[in-house]
Amino acid sequence: MKISIINGPNLNLLGQREPGIYGAQSFLDYFDTLKNRFPAVEFDYFQSNVEGEIIDALHNVGFSSDGIILNAAAYTHTSVGIGDAIKAIDTSVIEVHISNTFAREDFRHTSYITPHVKGIIVGFGLDVYRLAVESFLLK
Ligand code: DQA
Repeated sequence: MKISIINGPNLNLLGQREPGIYGAQSFLDYFDTLKNRFPAVEFDYFQSNVEGEIIDALHNVGFSSDGIILNAAAYTHTSVGIGDAIKAIDTSVIEVHISNTFAREDFRHTSYITPHVKGIIVGFGLDVYRLAVESFLLK
């Protein structure tokens, strides 16, 4: 099983960025734990702060991966283009958010991603990525 993780803007700063909201662990550190936990899964990981690069990444893996875990970060709340890219590809996408976006500012309650994904997992810290992997493995 091949699972692709795509992270959007500012998630390269996990561990340093607002640790009270997003925790103190870097994503690459967490990613090592995730890979060790699921040795049978072939993971790839992409992060960008640029909207078009996230769309390109969805196109690149969206016809070959078995599942995509997407945290589009702030673009979740603004990007018609990322929503359209999810519609355009074959692979199922699970939308994840580290924080509980529904318990935060109103603008974070809107997602241009959610209508096009298989499901969403929000608010469990970095564990949202593990839960998304488990969900793909259930299939
Ligand atoms: C986030 C939530 C978004 O609202 C925010 O813009 C992020 C991170 C999360 O994982 O909790 O950058 O996607």
